[in-house]
Amino acid sequence: MTTTPISQTEIWRRLADHATAIEGATLAQLFADDPGRAASLTVEAAGLHVDFSKNRMTVETRDLLVELAATADVAGRRDAMFAGARINTTEDRSVLHTALRRPKGDSLIVEGVDVVADVHRVLDKMAAFSDEVRRGRWVGATGRPIEAVVNIGIGGSDLGPAMAYRALRPHSDRDRTFRFVSNIDPTDLHEALVDLDPATTMFIVVSKTFGTIETLTNARSARAWLTGALGEEAVAKHFVAVSTSAERVAEFGIDTTNMFEFWDWVGGRYSVPSAVGLSLMLAIGPDGFHRFLAGMREMDEHFLSAPPERNLPMLMGLLGVWYTNFFAAQSTAVLPYADHLSRFPAYLQQLDMESNGKGVDREGRTVIVDSGPIVWGEPGTNGQHAFYQLIHQGTRLIPADFIGFSHATDPIGAHHDLLMANLFAQTEALAFGQDHDDPQRRFTGNRPTTTILGDRLDPEALGRLIALYEHKVFTMGTIWGINSFDQFGVELGKVLAVAIEPELAGDGDLDHDGSTNALIRWYRANRLG
Ligand code: F6P
Repeated sequence: MTTTPISQTEIWRRLADHATAIEGATLAQLFADDPGRAASLTVEAAGLHVDFSKNRMTVETRDLLVELAATADVAGRRDAMFAGARINTTEDRSVLHTALRRPKGDSLIVEGVDVVADVHRVLDKMAAFSDEVRRGRWVGATGRPIEAVVNIGIGGSDLGPAMAYRALRPHSDRDRTFRFVSNIDPTDLHEALVDLDPATTMFIVVSKTFGTIETLTNARSARAWLTGALGEEAVAKHFVAVSTSAERVAEFGIDTTNMFEFWDWVGGRYSVPSAVGLSLMLAIGPDGFHRFLAGMREMDEHFLSAPPERNLPMLMGLLGVWYTNFFAAQSTAVLPYADHLSRFPAYLQQLDMESNGKGVDREGRTVIVDSGPIVWGEPGTNGQHAFYQLIHQGTRLIPADFIGFSHATDPIGAHHDLLMANLFAQTEALAFGQDHDDPQRRFTGNRPTTTILGDRLDPEALGRLIALYEHKVFTMGTIWGINSFDQFGVELGKVLAVAIEPELAGDGDLDHDGSTNALIRWYRANRLG
């Protein structure tokens, strides 16, 4: 069935008219006009307190956006996703990362298979393995317990576990070292291994496909580092794999009894709650990992059941569309006032930009409005002393999410109050600005922010935040009619790199464009010098 592109619907036209009508209204005016605004545009749900009131919207805007969600059938597609329908149509797959956090004993039968039972079989295997390692009962080839865990993976097989490990480090076992190697740049592996002892190091090779060149190259070099010191036999005690492909894991030389499975219905960028999170479980323990899953589940249930006007991921997604398409915003900033969330923006870059960075819709038509925004950010207060100048006084509109917690993870003196004072001050300054006779010193204000507050950065909170953004991205992709679950845009560069690599060491003719030929010749002339 062919659908009407969203930008040709009646509600889109009404939103465009409404945008024109409220374009001139400043946030200062909106607050003056409606003293109840902060209360009516704040939602308290799923363990979060989210203040949308410093956005360039009114209650009427919200209600129109809710109509937009209904027109795009966000709720219907959400239900189809949770039920296991093959909504990833280009790859003919279900999209079931939400099944990864369903409780034990639940059941979800998809095409004859109880996927929740499968999920818990693997979670139990991960927990048993984690307990062995954490209690020092899993010993390496020389009989010594594991003291360092090195996760080798890239993209979704790295960003999720690396971000989550960093976020939850205070909840981790500090006796063990955790490292994450992703880049094909040899520096990454070298730096990770330079002070480790092969006898006490465990490698987790994480790759959904087990065909990713960076991961396999790093894994081979890591194996050479290990076997050079301890012999071939050591691989069995020092290498485990996380993948959907038992065949390729075996081909690589890892015993499949040391493999933790996941499934093609888990997208790489949605995979941290699967076995891809094994390093996180080793760090924070099985109980901590289950708390992380419980936080995700809480947000899933909220997304499934809350009415659209109080549904956090839906509202965030709708606002994302509002700014992208009606205010021509090109980017969005995510600014966590929690240093442990320093990798959260990088994680969200893959989640959002690999999902919605597309120009063709599910029906193969060009998407004629802007789609996925550029996502970026750094923790506050550091960012304040770097790029906030542009957010306050630059020419672009950059909607920003500010994330903070009422409790410090590591309380020292008045640090946390100062941190949070800065968060509140920035959103106030961005919204209301400050007049000045000198235009250089004037803050125009009217710059939108959403403030997301939680109690403390613990496993549940991290789970809630991840699921919040997953469903936000889903909402946006659904409105644009995009399949948010494939990533064909990453393929071409990979294919070309495979063709170029042998050319670098050779001296044969080159058949690229003039620029690429010249760059390769420069590299050939200089690489050994
Ligand atoms: O190149 C992009 C990508 O396919 C991501 O989508 C994925 O997370 C990453 O590569 C790693 O893939 P794999 O887990 O199969 O090694």
